[in-house]
Amino acid sequence: MENFKIDVDADGIAMITFDVPGRSMNTLTSGVMREIPEWVERIKSDEGIKGAVLTSGKTSGFCAGADLGDMAGGMLAGGSLQDAFDAGWRLNGALRALETCGKPVAAAINGLALGGGLELTLACHYRVVGDSPKIQLGLPEIKVGLFPGGGGTQRLTRLIGVQAAMMAMTEGKSFRPNDARGAGIVHEVVPVGDEVEAAKAWIKGGGKAVQPWDDKSFKLPGGGPYHPAGIQNFLVGNAMIRKQTYGNYPAATNLMKAVYEGVQLPMDAALRVETRYFIKTLMTPQAQGMIRSLFLSKQELDKGAVRPAGVPKSDPKKVTVLGAGMMGAGIAYVQALAGIETILIDRDQESADKGKAHVEELLKKRLSRGQIDQAKFDALLGSVTATTDYDLIKGSDLVIEAVFENREIKADVTKRAEAQLAPGAVFGSNTSTLPITGLAKASVRPEDFIGIHFFSPVDKMMLVEIILGEKTGQAAIAKSLDYVMKIKKTPIVVQDGRGFYTSRCFGTYVAEGLAMLEEGYAPALIDNIGRMTGMPRGPLEMHDDVALDLSVKIAKQTKEDLGDAYVPLPGWKIVQTMVEDLGRYGRKNGMGFYDYASKPKTLWKGLSDLAPVTIADSTPEMVEDQKRRLLFRQAVEVARCWEEGVIDDPREADVGAILAWGFAPWTGGPITYIEQYGLKAFVEQADAYAAKYGDRFAPPQLLRDMAAKGETFYGKFVGKQAA
Ligand code: NAI
Repeated sequence: MENFKIDVDADGIAMITFDVPGRSMNTLTSGVMREIPEWVERIKSDEGIKGAVLTSGKTSGFCAGADLGDMAGGMLAGGSLQDAFDAGWRLNGALRALETCGKPVAAAINGLALGGGLELTLACHYRVVGDSPKIQLGLPEIKVGLFPGGGGTQRLTRLIGVQAAMMAMTEGKSFRPNDARGAGIVHEVVPVGDEVEAAKAWIKGGGKAVQPWDDKSFKLPGGGPYHPAGIQNFLVGNAMIRKQTYGNYPAATNLMKAVYEGVQLPMDAALRVETRYFIKTLMTPQAQGMIRSLFLSKQELDKGAVRPAGVPKSDPKKVTVLGAGMMGAGIAYVQALAGIETILIDRDQESADKGKAHVEELLKKRLSRGQIDQAKFDALLGSVTATTDYDLIKGSDLVIEAVFENREIKADVTKRAEAQLAPGAVFGSNTSTLPITGLAKASVRPEDFIGIHFFSPVDKMMLVEIILGEKTGQAAIAKSLDYVMKIKKTPIVVQDGRGFYTSRCFGTYVAEGLAMLEEGYAPALIDNIGRMTGMPRGPLEMHDDVALDLSVKIAKQTKEDLGDAYVPLPGWKIVQTMVEDLGRYGRKNGMGFYDYASKPKTLWKGLSDLAPVTIADSTPEMVEDQKRRLLFRQAVEVARCWEEGVIDDPREADVGAILAWGFAPWTGGPITYIEQYGLKAFVEQADAYAAKYGDRFAPPQLLRDMAAKGETFYGKFVGKQAA
């Protein structure tokens, strides 16, 4: 075997060490899945083996789960349903054989165990885990459009009951060691390094080789569907899943079905039910799109897929942040966590200190959760210097500018910072709206000037949009990407332009909601339709969140820049009146489309005077059409960005859209949405919307040409940059 080692000790205990060669972390590759039945058979048939301990040979973790690229392709490669089932059953069958091998098997979990990694341990009779804040245990498959297919739906449910298991699996939630023990997922938490000894001690102490569910007296905790309390879980659970997913995620529905049917069956049959639903889910366009974007493409981008190859790798050690406001403080925090020495500069010491206090607050949360200890807390906080002194910039590899969104102020701080920078150091602006080429005019070294656009809140949002000015050089791109990778965020690289990529496309969602409002749709319906598309919130709610006065400011700036070419957006007057006449700025002053005085927020009553409801249609057909309209409007803008050269890699377009503005994740992103819809059908539908609602829906020529030639974005463009 390549991936497992077996050593039998003098007591007859077999140590199974999981150690995939050449990788820093264990994953369930097809090779690993082929080998599991081999060692299971050895434990079962070797009379010298009295029991077994399964552990990891990696210091980085136990097992991070399935290698999805390998697995998804592999399982569906055979072409027939039976082939797919057989491939899916291989792991499930082997794990069932493990738990029924007749000898006690303990898992010594010495690092994080997620997805298939945790499922492997659930098929052991006993689980010991090291007491480390770095260890997480969970089944996060739902996040990539799947659900646990290695017995997790059946074993976790039988261990902790339907309600707790469904919550853990539908949220993809992970547990820290002590929480996992409290929940009943593991048996014992021991000091780091003692896992194997404790596992062996359990075996030597007469550990039982029977799973609870194979014991005749087994009762499902909390009861199953034919139990008065148990049935509630399914009634309420179904409703909750519907509320959370609006039926957009087959994985969630199929997970519920696998649990409902499975808990009524003996384990062998239950596992087969799980495999059937798992394969069925894997075959859906939603799972395929999500796996590609949220797992494979994201991983590629995280590893620098779009980094210019010719520039040597850099490692930013000292980075200055200009502006210690909401964004600057957040950036300082993520830098500190990544081990970067940070100079945090503001116009006065008080403002700089306020920024550092925010870093401290966020670090305290980590301390209280046990993720860092006091010494680490002190070191991380100590790595951030709050100051007004530009001299301290000296020696910085990079400067991130996050001062007020004002050209003059930005120009001034650019000049002052550059005076301190060594040749080759990069200056990145976190501007959200001002084109980079224009800002670079203040720079004496525009080849080192670039946009590094974070999202709010910085500590939670995983994307960073890198924006190239006209003169930005390859070295600045590479260094910026090295920085983004160091702070463990996902980078995309886009060209300069109004709203860059993410803000421009997100803006269309909000604007289309406004158009619907003007047409006479009821505001509650508009936001419900928005949520039903799979967007995180409705367009009016999101408009309130970004602030209505900001919208007015941007519209005015655009009008000034475009002159006669400026066309006001439909519904624009409603927002202008709300801001300029009524002082309704959105969530930030508690008054927007909604009133925020009470919780939950309620729609502002006065809205019906400004935008009377005239559309009475509430048929499902109308809802479907308007859901599609909202997605189409965004997808057309993405295609337009492509045609204009703002983006040129489908992976960046898809991953960026989901991570930056929450573009309905079930689609796999706007490019995948267009492709799964079919380019030809998409162009026809977009033309129909253009005829009805206006030119903003008109598909760009590029899309028409690609549709006519039968091309796809993924077929045509992936790998282009490497070539
Ligand atoms: P903020 O108002 O919270 O912080 C700006 C900070 O810059 C303040 O602490 C201010 O004292 C400081 N500052 C102003 N003039 C300065 C000067 N001459 N020298 C040093 N410091 C100075 O603003 P926020 O929200 O942090 O935004 C900062 C930048 O990030 C803006 O360009 C904004 O467009 C951009 N941005 C904002 C996002 C958001 O959601 N708020 C998202 C992405 C980018």
